[in-house]
Amino acid sequence: MDSHLTRRHFLSTVSAGAVGLGLADGVTLRPLPAGSIGEKPAILGGRPVRTEPFPAWPVVHESDEKGWMEVLHRKDWCRAGNGHFTTQFEDAWARTLGAKYCVVTSCGTTALYTSLNALGVGPGDEVILPPYTFVATLNVILMQFALPVFVDTDRESFQIDARKIEAKLTSRTRCIMPVHLGGNPVDMDVVLEVARKHKLPVIEDACQAHTGEWRHRRVSTLGDLGCFSFQASKNLNSGEGGAILTNDPAHHEFCRSFQDQGRGPAGAAFAYARQGTNLRMTEFQAALLLQQLTRLEEQSQVREQNAQYLTRLLREIPGISPARMYEGTTRNGYHLYMLRYDKAHFADIPRTRFLEALEKEGIPCAGGYSPLDKEPFLKKMLNSRIYRKMYSEREIAEWEERNACPENDRLCEEAVWFFQTMLLGPQRDMDDIAEAIRKIQKHAGELRSQS
Ligand SMILES: Cc1ncc(COP(=O)(O)O)c(C=O)c1O
Repeated sequence: MDSHLTRRHFLSTVSAGAVGLGLADGVTLRPLPAGSIGEKPAILGGRPVRTEPFPAWPVVHESDEKGWMEVLHRKDWCRAGNGHFTTQFEDAWARTLGAKYCVVTSCGTTALYTSLNALGVGPGDEVILPPYTFVATLNVILMQFALPVFVDTDRESFQIDARKIEAKLTSRTRCIMPVHLGGNPVDMDVVLEVARKHKLPVIEDACQAHTGEWRHRRVSTLGDLGCFSFQASKNLNSGEGGAILTNDPAHHEFCRSFQDQGRGPAGAAFAYARQGTNLRMTEFQAALLLQQLTRLEEQSQVREQNAQYLTRLLREIPGISPARMYEGTTRNGYHLYMLRYDKAHFADIPRTRFLEALEKEGIPCAGGYSPLDKEPFLKKMLNSRIYRKMYSEREIAEWEERNACPENDRLCEEAVWFFQTMLLGPQRDMDDIAEAIRKIQKHAGELRSQS
């Protein structure tokens, strides 16, 4: 049993947060406590806004332990053939999302890798992706020796600027990979319209968006294939793990077979339908996921209510811009709470100093990603012997200019992230976050002169 957050404690913090929120239609804002805003910032030796930790992650109940022990004693730890818990979780996750099929994998990266293989993406093909994402989205494209083509970010939403996709398509474009970053859905109306017009398949990277919804449909089910990660930090977690969702029986059969060494559908141990590899999830992971899944909805509702309240608070602070949601978003998965920091409203203190000051006030935070399109390893790969064999000198020479993402470069300098676990506690935790930011703003001049 997790010593930090038992079920009783979790429920008590949830109800303390949720009761009285009155968030169904309009958010009820409590006036900010006079609090410590006038006091010296913690980074300059003052008292921090907060000393209490935010909720711990993962949340572990007795049922997780029971599920785990059941696998141990059944002694079928590998899913070979059908798999008891892996099959149960595939059915449950597909049902939860409203998809026809689910195939679980060892992690999110291998779910994306399998999906690219299902579409036959390979050397000489181009794949559209955003530059504001975790490196795995790029790595799987390079694993296929395909050419990544970056479409700039909409700084307001932190998502791929879907209106800029069409201009990046060529006769070599093989698929579009939008990423619902932080759980905030991409503008899927535009993505799907472009995809339909150009007859291109879409792989949704929903690795951070377990409860995201676009027009009341769960993200991952809108494109041809959708991928999830169940890595430790994720809102649905088994340490490592992944899943592919699809409504297409051919894709389903390919993915099922590919992650199991290309085995044929009959379950025969040594009959192969295709080349494949071993990307199987273990029964232990699936048993944990089945238990964690029973809490996902309740936890997600708390995150959403808290995030909604926090957004109302932060919108009142000049220089702080929470990530915008597109009109079609009916639900944000809130793996991250993302905002932009404008130092002009904070006496020009650099973001790094702002982040340090927030940490000292007891508010965990991060500056997020750096531009993926500028990663030195990517340049090295594009200039490698293998890439030079497949792409012309001109193509490689022009790649950098073609892939410039100035909006994303700017976003990478102004982004601030809070983590999903920070949204799991009571509403007063959100007050603390807002109070810490206001305190730093009030003392920004002193912070600048004493840095
Ligand atoms: C957007 C995105 N894509 C892909 C992945 C890869 O998932 P995994 O770590 O499970 O391989 C992650 C994981 O952090 C992610 O955030």
